[in-house]
Order: sequence, then structure tokens, then C-alpha cells
Amino acid sequence: MLSALRSSSSRAALRSFASNPVILPAGRTLSTAFTDSLPDYGTVRVRFAEPSQGHVDVGFTDGSSWRFDSSWLSRAVSGPKPSAAAISGAKLDGESVTFTVGDAAATVDGSVLRTYADEGGVDLGPPSLLEPIRGPAVWTGAELADSPWWGHHLSEAEIDDLVSATKHAMQTVRWRDASCTVPEPLSLEEFPLGQPMANKLASLADELEYGKGLAMIRNMPTSHPALDEQSLAVMYVGLSAHIGHVVMQSSSGLRSVSRGYGMPLGRIQAEMTGETPKGGLQTNNAFRLHTDRCDVISLMSLRAAPSGGASRLASAPAIFNALLERAPHLAAVLAQPIDRIWEGENGYFRLPVVGLTPSGQFTTQFSPSYVENAQFLEDTVKATPEQIAALDAIEEIGLELGAEFVMQPGMLFFLNNHQVYHGRGNWSVTDSEKTGDWGNSGRLLFRTWISPYNSRPLPDTDQYRTVWGTVAGGALRGGWDQAIKSGEVPKPKFPDDHVYYSLFDDRVQQLSMTTTCATVLRY
Ligand SMILES: [Fe+2]
Repeated sequence: MLSALRSSSSRAALRSFASNPVILPAGRTLSTAFTDSLPDYGTVRVRFAEPSQGHVDVGFTDGSSWRFDSSWLSRAVSGPKPSAAAISGAKLDGESVTFTVGDAAATVDGSVLRTYADEGGVDLGPPSLLEPIRGPAVWTGAELADSPWWGHHLSEAEIDDLVSATKHAMQTVRWRDASCTVPEPLSLEEFPLGQPMANKLASLADELEYGKGLAMIRNMPTSHPALDEQSLAVMYVGLSAHIGHVVMQSSSGLRSVSRGYGMPLGRIQAEMTGETPKGGLQTNNAFRLHTDRCDVISLMSLRAAPSGGASRLASAPAIFNALLERAPHLAAVLAQPIDRIWEGENGYFRLPVVGLTPSGQFTTQFSPSYVENAQFLEDTVKATPEQIAALDAIEEIGLELGAEFVMQPGMLFFLNNHQVYHGRGNWSVTDSEKTGDWGNSGRLLFRTWISPYNSRPLPDTDQYRTVWGTVAGGALRGGWDQAIKSGEVPKPKFPDDHVYYSLFDDRVQQLSMTTTCATVLRY
């Protein structure tokens, strides 16, 4: 059989085959016709692998999903077999998946498994938004604690590595602004990390794209004696460059530099108080669950508020699945395009809230305030009551399934916007901030926007191309570059008495303002 494989064109499968157990039904060999025309799928990842009664369903990043008979697959497992061979577990592990039968286990390369699916699996058809999303992207806040990537502690050696890369980068850093607070993006060479740390970040990037879609490092050296605020900014932008392209940030229609507009680094801090931002200033207000208009958003805390300012996180596919079960008509509504403000030919753009990518992965793009503001532009298609109810459901189910916690100094997280929503609670300002001395005390987070090197391809439609610039996976996309293409855009015509978020159901808004997520993580 090896010779048959060698004659095939599947170099990836052949390479993997040599280091993986054979997966074949008992007494069967692959037919010559099959092996002679073995397709080359390139590198295909496993999106999900779920054992059930007598079979295992496996989804791949070529968008396909297959059902394998578990006794067929269990022949891949080394060691003694139970009499009734059945796969009891399946764990995604980088480019491979590890199946377990009793105490035995075998790791199989995703590309190899995909190759065999043509002959040994039953095609489950393309993924659909009419069915629940499967895989690690679906999680609850309570399950975050189980993730090795949540609350991850860097070792002393890894921190030393970050500090020395920062010192190296400080010698040549160029600053975006005259006061030298925002560094220009750094190349990997300008922020050189040792192999262990580089490997760790590659593994983190893997979790962002193929796992839960988020990672939190607990102990960034934000109070390190050798690092001042400038150095921390350089360290953060340099670290982000190891995950992907650092993208310039946009600040919706406000075009506010203080909110990171056109900048590789944003500083999240109050510059005024109150529930409604004014004059492009940032305020200490709450945000409902939303995505930023980039692939990955990262925040790093330098200072916490005297009180409040919790970060909220929720799995978008978990919310979608719950909606599919509880109110399928609202889930269907989320897949319809809806108008949002600030960008596009006439100052608004149209995009579904949720979608499926060619790789069979989830994607979502959504900001309640963009939709709300779009209601006050003349030409937009106005949101229907059903659409508004579906957007309210995101917030309400997100509170139920998500988690919240207060970012303490030294905490840093990365979120994949395609599958994780984030929001925040309002916070109190310091006595010094109350006197108008903004920026020197109180809550301060740094923010980067990142297009990861391993990002998913997006649906290839005009609507997605308009928002993202390109839908190609791994490309530099999203953020300011697309936002500025619209040029100056019309401002919404709000009535004088308009209240922020009043488009939405007051009951849900009150819930959002007065309760917490079901899971509160305390640090
Ligand atoms: Fe945000």
C-alpha cells in the first residue's frame, strides 16, 4: 500500500502517512483506483471531531464533514483493543486529531484523515447555518477555566525573552506621534523572540483560529522595573506582530485619534464621564457585546479602575446554537444582511451578522451601535422588529453563556472576532480624573488590531470584500485601510432626545446594565 501511496500525488498525505497509524477497515486495502488518484488536499485541518454511538463525525477545513464508522477508525488506535471497539474521545491537537479507545490512543494527521474520508467516510454535506455549529469554537464562560490558554502564565525565561526583545526594539523604534506614545508596527526581526517563546505564540495563534478563539496571558511584565510605558507599548506591538499583521485601527465615524483612529496602538481610557461619548472622546460607558472590525482584537491592562470596567466575553457560535434551538426564526434573521453605519459608498454598509466561511468555520461581524446609528441615515434599509429582537438575543444569551472579569494590570487577551463577542461594563474614575486630569491615572488598556497569519478565508461576496478589503485567509485585511476608502461619510441625524442603545428592548438593555454574566471570574 505504501508503494501505491508513493505513486500518488499527495505528498502531504504521504509525509504524514509515514508517521501515523494505518486507518483501514478490517481486511480491506484501499482500491487501486482510489490510491492511484489520491487527491492532494494540501494541509487540511480538523474543525471538529465528535464521537457518538458507533461513529465519529469529523469536519475539515476544506468545508467538508464526514461520518466515520468508529470500529473502522479504531483500527488506527495502537495497543490492546476492547472487544467492542468504539472511539470514546477525540481531541484536536494542532494539525492532528487524537482518538482514544479505552486507555489506548492514536494521533492522526488531519490531511491523511481527509484523504481517507473519500473512501471510508459518509459525506455529511456542506455545513449549514440551519444546523448547530460544532467544535471547540462553541464554549461557555464556565468552560474557560478548563482552557490551558485562559489565565496562561508565562515562565520567567519567557518574560526575560520579552524584555530583551523590547530592549532590542527600543534601539530602532519609530514613533507614530510626536509625543512618542504610539510605536510604528514592528517586523518579526525588529522584535526577535527566542524559539520557545515564538513556538508558544504560534501555538496561541492556533488556539485563536482553530480552538476556542481566545487566549489570556495573566502575567505580562507591565510593572517590570526595566519597562516604562513607552517600552510596554513597544513590547505589546512587537508581541502582536508574532500573531499577525498589526492593522491600523478605526474608530467608527468618530475618526478620533484618541480612540486609535489610524493608529497601530490604541489607548483605552476615559477622557470624560457619562453614557454617551461626545466630540470623539472616550467615556467610561458600557458597551454591549460586539466585534471590532478586524480579525483579532487584543487588549493589555496597565491600570484598573477604582471599580467596575469588567470585560465580557462570549462564544458567538454558542449564542447562535442556543438561538437556533430556542428561536430558529431569529437565528435565520442573523444570516440576513443588515445595514450598519460609517463605511461604504453612501456612509453605510450591508453585511449579515453571521456567516459560514469556505473553510466551514463561523464568522460574525456586529456592533449594536453601528446598527442603531444606521437607523438615522436616510438611505439605509431600516432594521425590522425581528432583526432587532435577534440582536437583543445576542446580548441576552451572551450574558447567560459568557463570562466577565476585570482585567488586572498585566493581563492581556487576544480574541478572534469571527467567533468571540466582547463587551464591557462602565467604571468609576479616580479623584484625579474627576478634576479633569485625564490619562495619568485610572483604567488604562492598550489595544492592538491584528490580522493573523493563519486567519480563515471569508465568504467571497461583495459585501465581505467591502468590509475586509480582501477575503483571502492570512491576508492583511480589515481595520482602517478599508474604513478610509469611504472618505467622509454622512453623520446620523439623531433626534435631540435620542438615548444610546434605545433602538433595543429596554428590558434587555436594563439586564445588560444591571446584571452580570452568569460566570464571573475573579482575579
Ligand atoms: Fe470593541
